[in-house]
Amino acid sequence: MSLPTSLLLLLSLLLILLSPTTSHSPNYLKLQLIHTNTLLHNNSTHFSLLHHHRHRNRPRIHTPIVSGAATGSGQYFASLTLGTPPQRLLLVADTGSDLTWLRSSSSRQPHYHHRNHRAAFLLRRSRSFRALHCLHTKCHLLPHQQCRGPHSSCQYTYSYADGSVTSGILSTDVTSFNTTLTFGCAFNLSGPSITGPAFEGAAGVMGLGKGPLSFTEQLGKRFGNRFSYCLPDYTISPPKISYLVIGGRHGVVSRNTRSTPLLTNIFATTFYYIEILYVIIENVKLPINPSVWGIDDLGNGGTIIDSGTTLTFFPEPAYRQIVKEMADRVKLPRLSKASQVFDLCYNVSGVSKLNLPSLKLVFAGDSVFDPPPGNYFIDTAKDVKCLALQAVTSPAGNAVIGNLMQQGFLFEFDNDRSRLLFSRSGCGNPR
Ligand SMILES: *[C@@H]1O[C@H](CO)[C@@H](O)[C@H](O)[C@H]1NC(C)=O
Ligand SMILES: *[C@@H]1O[C@H](CO)[C@@H](O)[C@H](O)[C@H]1NC(C)=O
Ligand SMILES: *[C@@H]1O[C@H](CO)[C@@H](O)[C@H](O)[C@H]1NC(C)=O
Ligand SMILES: *[C@@H]1O[C@H](CO)[C@@H](O)[C@H](O)[C@H]1NC(C)=O
Ligand SMILES: *[C@@H]1O[C@H](CO)[C@@H](O)[C@H](O)[C@H]1NC(C)=O
Repeated sequence: MSLPTSLLLLLSLLLILLSPTTSHSPNYLKLQLIHTNTLLHNNSTHFSLLHHHRHRNRPRIHTPIVSGAATGSGQYFASLTLGTPPQRLLLVADTGSDLTWLRSSSSRQPHYHHRNHRAAFLLRRSRSFRALHCLHTKCHLLPHQQCRGPHSSCQYTYSYADGSVTSGILSTDVTSFNTTLTFGCAFNLSGPSITGPAFEGAAGVMGLGKGPLSFTEQLGKRFGNRFSYCLPDYTISPPKISYLVIGGRHGVVSRNTRSTPLLTNIFATTFYYIEILYVIIENVKLPINPSVWGIDDLGNGGTIIDSGTTLTFFPEPAYRQIVKEMADRVKLPRLSKASQVFDLCYNVSGVSKLNLPSLKLVFAGDSVFDPPPGNYFIDTAKDVKCLALQAVTSPAGNAVIGNLMQQGFLFEFDNDRSRLLFSRSGCGNPR
């Protein structure tokens, strides 16, 4: 079943790099979000969960097991210009992982060649390309590096929560903004999120996570240790122009900006954790035991904010309460088997004005995140609206605020002050 075009358009946004053209160095890096429909596909059964698998050397920790799967490609793309002479590459922008990697020209995998082959990185055509060797300090920042000897190249294996795995060689090259970037030259890819339809058109992943190897950490040294983005509201037509901004002097602070602390989980240093205090539906605070939101002694649980995951996941007990409260309040014909993915779907045929319940998440610091209903009720077919939430089914999993839920808000990840700022009004005011 295909998703309506408006949603597909939203889900297929491209981030285009506006490389600095002035001779003096800018104090921030600005990437523009634009609409495109070149990445549309009609396969809505694929769900991409692209956050990085937590360290395997801690066997008691497991990432969420995602039941079912599926609402279509929900990724945001950034364009990176790399190499000498420069090569332009489209990458999935992912705050849930650290490693930036590119499908490399040396690949023998046939699926590299039949689509978007031009987008892959041709390392032999770049004079400034370097493979890092095993003794390099950056090699030791990888969760899984394999070194055959001190002088061999730094080989890595990087895995994602859905079981997708990529492997290759850690390398450096020069970006169009005159910075040396450390990234993975990937030779092997496997698994749904990085070979499936959601990945179509992408040459790799831009890791915006909190770890030392991430794109934002590397660029933070030059531009400042913060970044912001806005995922535009697809219901607004024409769509607003928006940006991913790395660094800069000023934050996004405006009159309406709210703030919540970014928490650290020593077992999962990649992720941006925030704390949910409670959930409010139509001004009713749901009776959810606060302990369901916590991070336990083993690093399980908690809530992350992730641009690389489309849907929002809540711990099972919270999810059940939310579905129950929504079901009690929505007075529309409920569909039983409308979707294999979502529990709560309605027939909205002939309904001229939808009045869906408000959902508010109250974060630590008593900052209220109040997304519009379009961020959590989506059209899955003609006249069918579903509550686009899922339960975390593994007891070791964590909750995820996905990119659909983030639409229409400007988010700033301020790593220096360990806080997440967000504003509903900031999207229309790019710097
Ligand atoms: C949808 O996908 C199917 C299977 O991949 C394909 O046969 C069909 O032509 C596609 N339809 C459209 C409208 O693109
Ligand atoms: C690029 O960086 C190098 C070293 O940091 C510097 O010497 C050079 O002037 C820079 N070039 C431009 C065009 O900014
Ligand atoms: C790619 O994966 C295959 C199978 O897992 C493995 O045999 C091969 O060595 C890998 N190649 C590289 C370059 O890592
Ligand atoms: C959709 O994509 C999934 C994952 O790639 C695949 O298994 C399934 O067959 C596809 N369905 C259609 C209708 O193309
Ligand atoms: C929704 O309701 C309309 C009118 O009652 C009906 O024609 C249509 O088949 C229903 N759609 C679904 C998906 O059940």
